[in-house]
Amino acid sequence: MLLIVPNNDHEDLGRYVDAVAEPGGLAGLGRLTEAISGMESRRAAIIRQLRQAQTASWEEIGQACGMTRQGATRRWSKALHAGSFGSQAEAYQRGRPPYPLSAVEWLVPRQARRVVDLGAGTGKFTRLLADAKLDVVAVEPSADMRAQFAAALPRVPVHEGTAERIPLPDSSVDAVVAAQAWHWADPALAVPEVARVLRPGGTLGLVWNMRDNSEHWVALLDNILHQHTRSEIDTEPPIGEPFGAPERTEIRWKHTLTPAGLLDMVASRSYVIVLPEAERAQLLGEVRELLGSHPELRGRDEITMPYVTRCTRLRRP
Ligand SMILES: C[S@@+](CC[C@H](N)C(=O)[O-])C[C@H]1O[C@@H](n2cnc3c(N)ncnc32)[C@H](O)[C@@H]1O
Repeated sequence: MLLIVPNNDHEDLGRYVDAVAEPGGLAGLGRLTEAISGMESRRAAIIRQLRQAQTASWEEIGQACGMTRQGATRRWSKALHAGSFGSQAEAYQRGRPPYPLSAVEWLVPRQARRVVDLGAGTGKFTRLLADAKLDVVAVEPSADMRAQFAAALPRVPVHEGTAERIPLPDSSVDAVVAAQAWHWADPALAVPEVARVLRPGGTLGLVWNMRDNSEHWVALLDNILHQHTRSEIDTEPPIGEPFGAPERTEIRWKHTLTPAGLLDMVASRSYVIVLPEAERAQLLGEVRELLGSHPELRGRDEITMPYVTRCTRLRRP
């Protein structure tokens, strides 16, 4: 579509913009929008590289983009984290916990047949939906996560998409679920998009596995994990119209995993993935040290991690 490549000066850039928008009207607007979204993706990719190689601070990135440090962090930090999972898709599949079956029973209405799992990742929650004999379709933005998904659940269709852009027709599903994924979505776009694909009377179910840090070693692990970031996931996010009042429940359960599985669980957290290499290695070293020194972990082949699974369900009237 683009016929000229601008040099790095303002006049060329101006000519480039004029050429893209040349037809004017709606056609010009469409072409401009397409070009801007391509540039936005490129800008995000450069920022991701700069942060991962630690060659620029948020302050410097903000300056280069004509905004403050806070503005730049607000704008790109979440996207950087949301898009990080693919590089650790295998560790994710090995180390992340499954979900209790009772979460599916509570979140998906008995009469539901067709269900979409948003941000399905490697299929940890989708597997339970498929086992419950539901007609399930998965949506996941990361190609690496979709590859793990396809290997784990070859019979379940998985589409590229996001909560903001669900590749399904209007009123085509009875329930939508998002497991450990809704906090990555932009609710202003995702709520109407979910309402669009749901049949009237359909439900939106949100679920998060949270480590129960009332146990001493889990609290120590959390301190190591959150030394670089303290941002908490909001497991009771406001949803609003057209959905009715949220209902919530909590399920307490325990997950048994090996010490290597615990390291995989840590390595697949987005805030660990995006750390510069040296800090990431140091953090994983601290977790190894905890594994080797805490009386409840030292010398164990199996570890029992306590979880609280937080569930929210909402009905579209
Ligand atoms: C923590 S993982 C959860 C994966 C899976 N649901 C599970 O429970 O194991 C979060 C997933 O959300 C995906 N994701 C990121 N941004 C998203 C968005 N805007 N809409 C839907 N999914 C998104 C990520 O690629 C990742 O696979």
